Amino acid sequence: MEEARQEEREGIGAVVLLGAPGAGKGTQAKLLEKRYGIPQISTGDMLRQHVAQRTELGLQAQEYMQRGSLVPDDVVMRMVQGRFRAPDAVRGFILDGFPRTVVQAEILTEKLKHLGWPPPLVVYLAMDYNILLQRLTGRRSCPQCGKIYNIYLQPPAREGLCDIDGTPLITRKDDREDVIKERLRAFIEQTRPVAKYYRQVGLFHKLDGSRPPDVITSELFVLVDSRLHEEETETGTVA
Ligand code: AP5
Repeated sequence: MEEARQEEREGIGAVVLLGAPGAGKGTQAKLLEKRYGIPQISTGDMLRQHVAQRTELGLQAQEYMQRGSLVPDDVVMRMVQGRFRAPDAVRGFILDGFPRTVVQAEILTEKLKHLGWPPPLVVYLAMDYNILLQRLTGRRSCPQCGKIYNIYLQPPAREGLCDIDGTPLITRKDDREDVIKERLRAFIEQTRPVAKYYRQVGLFHKLDGSRPPDVITSELFVLVDSRLHEEETETGTVA
């Protein structure tokens, strides 16, 4: 059963980053996390951790992830339950890769209401699909700190090693061309309707995700800052 609705909360609340595989959600989420001190909640990272630890949930998710399909809603919801109430999320959180179906979006709407948060700030990183393949096949990431690179577009200073901690970089198992195709299909069929859902309820901002990362980051900062200012105005701390 859902908990009773709490008092309105103060802070940034939920920031939802929507976009196709490779649109730059993870890259931007990490920068938002650093600037605003609120956690990145990446369902993809959480699922990969469950798979690596061979938990019951991970074993259920594995076959879907391997072929590039979405993991069933009930498995994902079981996993994220409680994460929004964790101590590090008291001022808000960045949702990277969630919600990914209209069912997940509807559940999130209810969850936020019950937790006393306003509706999320939703940012859709729109992409030209031709660029995605290069982004995904070139992606490497640090298993230690999570920093994301691209051997074609954003290479590390020393080949194959993380700039931050020198750890050897890894390639994600689902960044293979055949799996990427399926991930894109899942995005078009199941996640694009989520953008429509948010557009209809008026919570939607679209940014062109094919531009350089720092250009997108500055626009995202403006959007999140305006959310902070809204909140300050509502609580009367700004005239
Ligand atoms: P997940 O891990 O969420 O993967 P994804 O959505 O496919 O997104 P990616 O992580 O591939 O891309 P991104 O947008 O974060 O791009 P990034 O910043 O890394 O999900 C994996 C799987 O888990 C799913 O297939 C599904 O099975 C399951 N799953 C997860 N959540 C689920 C849910 N809620 N429900 C059901 N199933 C779920 O950037 C990509 C590359 O481009 C990098 O190399 C980066 O350096 C580069 N780059 C980024 N931005 C730019 C830029 N502006 N210019 C140039 N290069 C750039």
